[in-house]
Amino acid sequence: MTQPDPASVLRSSAEMRYRAELDTLRGADRDPRPAGWQLSPRAVRRFILGDAQLGVSRKFYGDDPLVERAIVTLMGNQGLMLVGEPGTAKSLLSELLATAISGDSALTIQGAAGTTEDHIRYAWNYALLLAEGPSERALVPSPMYRAMVAGKLVRFEEITRCPPEIQDTMISLLSEKQIVVPELGDGACVHARRGFNVIATANLRDRGVHEMSSALRRRFNFETVRPIRDHAFEVELVLAQVRRELDGAGLQARIERDVVGPGRVRSA
Ligand SMILES: Nc1ncnc2c1ncn2[C@@H]1O[C@H](COP(=O)(O)OP(=O)(O)OP(=O)(O)O)[C@@H](O)[C@H]1O
Ligand SMILES: [Mg+2]
Repeated sequence: MTQPDPASVLRSSAEMRYRAELDTLRGADRDPRPAGWQLSPRAVRRFILGDAQLGVSRKFYGDDPLVERAIVTLMGNQGLMLVGEPGTAKSLLSELLATAISGDSALTIQGAAGTTEDHIRYAWNYALLLAEGPSERALVPSPMYRAMVAGKLVRFEEITRCPPEIQDTMISLLSEKQIVVPELGDGACVHARRGFNVIATANLRDRGVHEMSSALRRRFNFETVRPIRDHAFEVELVLAQVRRELDGAGLQARIERDVVGPGRVRSA
């Protein structure tokens, strides 16, 4: 598929938005990279927390040690589970980690009440399946399958919104790091290449979320992402984001600080 012009899309992926910064970091990266990683752990940290010397912007504010622990987790065998209140940048952090480590934040499964095993493992192109029988051509790989083949990170958003039996599918995938495809014959199986891991996010507050089994919990390192505590700083952050969005849309408008601070919005 051809890449659209970044200026014409409503929200481009982090790898498109920060292409120049990623190139700079890659050029300056002298540290060893874990197998399958696009950047060294230090450069991943710089991408997320910023580096003034290299002209790399800070993208996640608040808890620097949390970012460091998240990077270390992803170098190991456990998955990373980001939990917290809505709007605390769990998805943003998982997108940034996938971008810096795998150069690809698009391998994402969205957890929902309707998520099925096919969304996690693989499905079939039924026209081809009927015409040719089971074949690799007829198999439609899930983001998890593609991440295993490519040795990349897969993001699992809102995992607790999936019914428990679907969450259970993840238990064996995370232990065995392989997907068996019995339809393609005895022993047909994809093995995860080095670089594969899972970053899941879960909002433990909303209605419609399910408990996670202890077996699934054991396969993840949990990190709680907390809200920004400093109100004045939060207002600055929202202002900067609004300005960026307006700039991106080519609109000239002056946004007063009072408009963004809650409780101080002026009536028209
Ligand atoms: N600590 C932070 N650093 C930088 N941006 C932040 C931070 N906290 C919140 N934001 C802003 O809030 C937005 C919302 O974050 P995001 O959608 O990633 O939250 P979430 O935790 O995934 O929420 P939900 O549980 O509703 O899915 C971010 O895109 C970012 O603009
Ligand atoms: Mg989210």
